[in-house]
Amino acid sequence: MTISRRQLLQYSSGIALQSLALPLFASETPALKTIPSTGEKIPSMGMGTWITFNVGDNTELRDPRCQVLSRFFELGGRMVDSSPMYGSAEDVLGYCEEKKSAPDNYFRTTKVWTSSDSEGRTQIDNSYQLWKTNQFGLYQVHNLVNWKNHLPYLQELKAQGKIRYVGISTSHGRRHGDLANIMETQEIDFVQLTYNLEDREVEEKLLPLAADRGIGVVVNRPFRRGGLFDRLEGTPLPDWAQSIGCKNMAQIMLKFIISHPAVTCAIPATSQLAHLEENMAAQHGPMPDPQLRTEMINWFNQT
Ligand SMILES: NC(=O)c1ccc[n+]([C@@H]2O[C@H](COP(=O)([O-])OP(=O)(O)OC[C@H]3O[C@@H](n4cnc5c(N)ncnc54)[C@H](OP(=O)(O)O)[C@@H]3O)[C@@H](O)[C@H]2O)c1
Repeated sequence: MTISRRQLLQYSSGIALQSLALPLFASETPALKTIPSTGEKIPSMGMGTWITFNVGDNTELRDPRCQVLSRFFELGGRMVDSSPMYGSAEDVLGYCEEKKSAPDNYFRTTKVWTSSDSEGRTQIDNSYQLWKTNQFGLYQVHNLVNWKNHLPYLQELKAQGKIRYVGISTSHGRRHGDLANIMETQEIDFVQLTYNLEDREVEEKLLPLAADRGIGVVVNRPFRRGGLFDRLEGTPLPDWAQSIGCKNMAQIMLKFIISHPAVTCAIPATSQLAHLEENMAAQHGPMPDPQLRTEMINWFNQT
């Protein structure tokens, strides 16, 4: 189904359109999304590793993260996002995989993050070694840093089969104009950006543009690095939460994100098994329709 820019804008603002009754609605199975550039299906809940997996060498800290990663795979998770910027996180992921092998469909996702071309190549070589892999699912230019030189190199690695998809990341609403320009002019498979109940600027231009250009969208900071839980502390679960199978605030926030048709995958980060299970459950059951999405926004704005 092709979604027009106008429909997407209406959808984002929650105007109910019968014609937008996507199969995702009222789904009883995990919400699989389609990667636009290939048609490959991927679960809509991934996992981030910034801070949560940056635990250094101590095995007493590493092993509980490995349990989180194993449980993520058991619950059908595929995309794990990291970066050389996240300290020891990539090393910890490699350590966990050595202890217990990952499923074949593991969607390893990392980034190159340096202004120097030669350092970028060294950094990329290093990431293959840390993750103990010959192929990444998705390789992104972190925060648009030196994208003009890194992007062609990532495309070369893609042509060699060492990367399956190429993308660019940003966060915190930074450089949206530059990102839009890249999306309009470059061949990329994915963008990664911030989208949550509070940060909704991307609904105006970037999400419709991603849909128009057939670019997948990975959503970072779904909880504003936990800040949304502070904001909602003491707020009772709204009456409509039950109608979409939400038992907690995390699931409300995640269902809001993944029910946007342009979003491919959200990557909440957690160090805790109980939180992981809550987050993974958000990709099951009914999803909010456009009318309920409007209600969610209104409810959130009043908290
Ligand atoms: N420029 C970029 O490319 C960029 C920028 C920012 C982020 N990212 C990526 O996006 C990922 C996610 O963003 P983020 O790490 O900033 O933050 P986030 O996922 O919005 O929030 C993580 C925080 O939420 C807490 N949390 C998670 N699940 C919870 C639950 N069910 N209930 C209560 N608390 C919960 C976690 O604490 P617990 O550990 O206690 O669960 C953690 O403190 C990053 O890890 C990274 O991979 C990329």
